[in-house]
Amino acid sequence: MNERIYVWDPLVRIFHWSLVLTFIVCYLTGEEEGLIHAYSGYVILGLVAFRVIWGLVGTKYARFTDFIYSPVETIGFIKGMLAGKVKDYLGHNPAGGWMIVALLISLLLTGLSGVKVYGLEGYGPLAVASGGQEQSQIQETRRAYKEHEEDDDDHDKFAQRGKEHRENDDENESEEFWEEIHEFFANFTVLLIGLHVAGVLLSSIRENRNLVKSMLTGYKLKNH
Ligand code: HEM
Repeated sequence: MNERIYVWDPLVRIFHWSLVLTFIVCYLTGEEEGLIHAYSGYVILGLVAFRVIWGLVGTKYARFTDFIYSPVETIGFIKGMLAGKVKDYLGHNPAGGWMIVALLISLLLTGLSGVKVYGLEGYGPLAVASGGQEQSQIQETRRAYKEHEEDDDDHDKFAQRGKEHRENDDENESEEFWEEIHEFFANFTVLLIGLHVAGVLLSSIRENRNLVKSMLTGYKLKNH
C-alpha cells in the first residue's frame, strides 16, 4: 500500500481555500468597484503577505526552498513530463512551484495597483498621497455648489467649474492608466489560475493521486 505523507499544514490549506474564495468574490465584484471589491482585495493582499512569510519560516513543504527549483531541474522536469516520465515530488513539482511564484506576484501586482486606483479616487491608504488633495478640492467645490444651489446663475457657474475641474485634471488620466494596469493584472491572474487548475488536474491524472483532496486533508500518497 502507498504510504500517506502529511504534506500541507493547516495554514497552507486555509490560505489556499480562503484565497480561492476571496479571489472569486473580488473578481466578480470588480465591475461594481464597491466596498466588497476593495475589502476582498485587501484580504488577498494580506493572504499573499502571509504566504510570503510562511514561505520563509513555515513548515517543510510550505517553504520556498522546498519548491523553487533551478531552471535546469525545471526544464528537465518539463522534458521528462512530455516524454511521459513521472518523477515523484511530494511537495510542489518544479513547474507547479514556479506557477505559485507567478500567481503570488501577479496577485500582489493586481492588489497594489487596485490600492493605487482606490487612492486616486480618494479612498484607502494611498488617498492622501495620490488623490487626497484632489478629493478635498472636489469636496470644496461641492460645498460651494450646495451653498449656492438656490441661485440659478451660480448653479451653472459651479456646475461648470466642477465639470472643468474633473475634465482637465491630470489625475483622471493617471486614474485611467492605473485602472488599465489593474485590469491587465487581474486578467493575467485569471489566465494563470486557468493554467494552475489545468496543471493540478493533469498532474493528478499522471501521478494517479487526487491532489485536490490533498489540499483539503493535508495528506499525499507517496508514489513508489
Ligand atoms: C477550484 C480551483 C482550484 C483548485 C482545484 C486548486 C487546487 C490546488 C492544489 C491541488 C494545489 C496543490 C498543488 C500541488 O499538489 O502541488 C494548489 C496550490 C496552490 N493554489 Fe490552487 N487551486 C484552485 C484555485 C486557485 C486559485 C483561484 C488560486 C489563486 C487565486 C490558487 C492559488 C494556489 C497557490 C498560491 C497554491 C500554492 C499553495 C501553497 O503552497 O501555499 N489556486 N491549488
